[in-house]
Amino acid sequence: MADLTACLGRLRLKNPVMPASGTFCCFEDNPGAIDPGSLGAVVTKTVTLVPRPGNPPPRLLETACGLLNTVGLPSPGIGAFLSEELPRLRMIGTALIVSIAGERMREYAELAVRLGQERGVAALELNLSCPNVEKGLNFSSDARMLAQVVTAVRRETTLPVIAKLSPNVASIVEMARTAADAGADAVSAVNTFQGMAVDVLKRRPVFHNIHGGLSGPAIKPLALKAVWDIYRGTSIPIIGMGGISTPDDALEFLLAGASAVAIGTANFFNPLTMAQVIEGIQDYLEEGGFASLGDITGLAHDDFGGGGDTHRVRHEDKCR
Ligand SMILES: Cc1cc2nc3c(=O)[nH]c(=O)nc-3n(C[C@H](O)[C@H](O)[C@H](O)COP(=O)(O)O)c2cc1C
Repeated sequence: MADLTACLGRLRLKNPVMPASGTFCCFEDNPGAIDPGSLGAVVTKTVTLVPRPGNPPPRLLETACGLLNTVGLPSPGIGAFLSEELPRLRMIGTALIVSIAGERMREYAELAVRLGQERGVAALELNLSCPNVEKGLNFSSDARMLAQVVTAVRRETTLPVIAKLSPNVASIVEMARTAADAGADAVSAVNTFQGMAVDVLKRRPVFHNIHGGLSGPAIKPLALKAVWDIYRGTSIPIIGMGGISTPDDALEFLLAGASAVAIGTANFFNPLTMAQVIEGIQDYLEEGGFASLGDITGLAHDDFGGGGDTHRVRHEDKCR
């Protein structure tokens, strides 16, 4: 069997497939749909320090090949997360990545301290850009602010830190480089693209706060380019996401340079997507005669000045 181990700096996962934050509620809600323990990791919905109600409805709108959401980061708050959700999440039997966000830098740092004291947390993912929150939560559109948040969290925790990047920036490569320089172990690319919809009968924007985040198959080519560019411009490990709904979609991200992939919107229309993607990657490796996942990470760069065996060297570096 080909080795599916995914290496994201110090974070090792048994396979490269995980849910994108906010799109997967593992257990009692959906028994039998997918075994969350079979995933490379489980990623939580973003947790904030204090409870947040999120935005008023409507929060979701289907578009051609995509989904607009303005969920607005509802969160039970860290207290309820630790007492009610974490004990269940610990029982799953795979790596647990907790997504966190704050309205101020010190909130990220405090969340990192609290989660660092808990058993069973494998890594922190910093949600630096919830585009659907009225007051912003936008630490990833300004390189200086992004550096400050990552540095503040890095100072407070020994856990691997993953910076989740917004695509709504002039240069996502610059942001990835900034996150790496500030001490992030990996980046997630990408969060949703900003979009909006207008209700023609009411002659008003559909969403209360006008814009929403676009996700799903519609954004796949855009997200894939972001991963390709980050791989070329940095050496930080990448969790690729944005519109993945089939094994081939996931393979495109891996070949473009992602060390792991996350699946979001597809979980809503096909709850078996993640299981199918794991199986599809396994089959692809075996049919192609590849011994491990690292053999295909970034492989599509080889004939484009990617430096021959660069992808293999990079993978071996990361997997040491
Ligand atoms: C309904 C919904 C809720 C989301 N909630 C979060 C969240 O809480 N934190 C976060 O970092 N990203 C959140 N996202 C963004 C996803 O994690 C992901 O980055 C994005 O949807 C792109 O992947 P996809 O096209 O596979 O959905 C959310 C996306 C959707 C559709």
